Amino acid sequence: MIQQQTLLTRQVVVILLLLALISSLISAASLANTNIPFPKDFRFGAATAAYQIEGAYKEDGRGLSIWDTWSHIPGKIYNNQTGDIADDHYHKVKEDIALMKSLGVKNYRMSISWPRILPTGLLKHGINQKGIDYYNMEINELVRNGINVAVTLYHWDLPQYLQDTYGGWLNSKETVQAFRDFSDICFAHFGDRVKDWITFNEPFITSVLGHGCNDWAPGLGCGSSPAGNSSNMPYMAAHSQLLAHAHAVKVYRDKYQQDQQGRIGITLNSNFYYPLTNTKEDYEACERALLFGFGWFADPVFFGDYPQVMKDFVEGNRLPLFTEQEKRLLKGSVDFIGLNHYTSNYIGNRKSPLPPVNQRTFNDDQRTEGSSYKNGVPIGPKAESDWLFVYPPGIRSMLNWIQKRYNPQMIYVTENGVDAPGESSMPISQALNDTFRVNYLHDYLTEVSNAVMQDGVNVKAYFVWSMMDNFEWTNGYSCRFGVVFVDYNSPNLTRYVKNSAKWYSELVKPYN
Ligand SMILES: *[C@@H]1O[C@H](CO)[C@@H](O)[C@H](O)[C@H]1NC(C)=O
Ligand SMILES: *[C@@H]1O[C@H](CO)[C@@H](O)[C@H](O)[C@H]1NC(C)=O
Ligand SMILES: *[C@@H]1O[C@H](CO)[C@@H](O)[C@H](O)[C@H]1NC(C)=O
Ligand SMILES: *[C@@H]1O[C@H](CO)[C@@H](O)[C@H](O)[C@H]1NC(C)=O
Repeated sequence: MIQQQTLLTRQVVVILLLLALISSLISAASLANTNIPFPKDFRFGAATAAYQIEGAYKEDGRGLSIWDTWSHIPGKIYNNQTGDIADDHYHKVKEDIALMKSLGVKNYRMSISWPRILPTGLLKHGINQKGIDYYNMEINELVRNGINVAVTLYHWDLPQYLQDTYGGWLNSKETVQAFRDFSDICFAHFGDRVKDWITFNEPFITSVLGHGCNDWAPGLGCGSSPAGNSSNMPYMAAHSQLLAHAHAVKVYRDKYQQDQQGRIGITLNSNFYYPLTNTKEDYEACERALLFGFGWFADPVFFGDYPQVMKDFVEGNRLPLFTEQEKRLLKGSVDFIGLNHYTSNYIGNRKSPLPPVNQRTFNDDQRTEGSSYKNGVPIGPKAESDWLFVYPPGIRSMLNWIQKRYNPQMIYVTENGVDAPGESSMPISQALNDTFRVNYLHDYLTEVSNAVMQDGVNVKAYFVWSMMDNFEWTNGYSCRFGVVFVDYNSPNLTRYVKNSAKWYSELVKPYN
């Protein structure tokens, strides 16, 4: 009897141990699960931007950009950090491409620094041949290693001369013409090998953060100047970028596309929004936030004009008008639409009274109130960045919203990723075990897969942000979005592969 009991107890213990082992194996397997269904021709890649990784800011004839100027103003960037050296990618480009190849990354989204090609931004002052040589070398190296190249033409590094001389994006004539020339040069020199062109990265950020008194280069919109203030400047900056986009696309289509057989589009950023309360007003506020954010740029490039709700809500003639010719130029000016998406939040209808029309900001005009919390509960786990909460279903809803409103032939997720909490202050060995990022990518990619495989959304490509840790704008090097770790304390900025890169490398294998 006693013996039997002991035996039974032993069996129970053995079974429990086995169960524990199996469940730990299952959880390890689900953590590492890379078996997420995508169409066979789906393209996976990684993304970066010139100012965030290149460094070499004064080398080989490069001119200064508004981000060089801004990052050198004390107090603007975390710990007064700059992109002067960044990841020193300019000198380590071959090493970095070899690393990409070893990880099986077959698509790379990079940006071309405008002031490296045109130091003042203007063609009439001459092309910097060393800049052309550098990007030729980089693109050739990528192609030689079997990596497809997608290029962003404007990832926020406006030549400082254009800012000083013409007011940058506040000027819709000279700066637009200058961008058109710059684009033409890039298509002519690199377009035989570059198959995807992205005219602008997140023009929303340039407009609202750069021109709405939000401490982002070029830092305009504070107080009042003859050119205006935060009440009108964001709309002016957006308008110029849209026109510049449309002109660059026309150049590409008229002169290059037929021979080069590439595609051209624009990259827009948006969170997805969920109503704060279950009221009609809050649902409408969510839709309005999507139209003020994404639709501000997507409506013009698909339909030829701003969303009606913006025309209605931006009172006092602050929303510029397109001429009929400009509308025709804009309408249909993308072969694909790029989406940068990281997080979702709650939105409600605005309750506080509005200021007088001439003092209203972009945020006032939307008449919404946002929060990452509802009844004190966050929408999902918080990442390192204060604005980034993990909510995977948001990307599926966002992609469906885009498909429904615009019915695009091709959507590329041009950025998606996360900074893991505490990653910057951990010992390297611990930071490389980035389970938080692996889970984020797994869960967001599962929702992208659902959008494609179940909902029929035309997503054709996905680029993780970022290939490696880098200069994260006003946050400097204090947060890390890379799947590759960069040791900023080592003299040669040594790169280390994080677990997320290994995981991603497994995921992309069947598509290579
Ligand atoms: C940034 O620069 C300003 C001005 O030189 C200085 O007062 C401040 O202490 C610096 N901040 C850091 C974190 O070094
Ligand atoms: C902002 O600038 C616009 C355009 O110059 C002007 O009409 C408006 O009065 C200004 N608002 C304030 C509060 O200065
Ligand atoms: C990696 O991180 C996970 C979760 O944070 C932890 O459970 C695991 O023990 C870590 N692995 C190593 C080798 O440190
Ligand atoms: C960089 O420095 C580290 C540590 O000193 C060394 O282990 C590594 O090999 C170096 N890498 C290169 C590419 O020089």
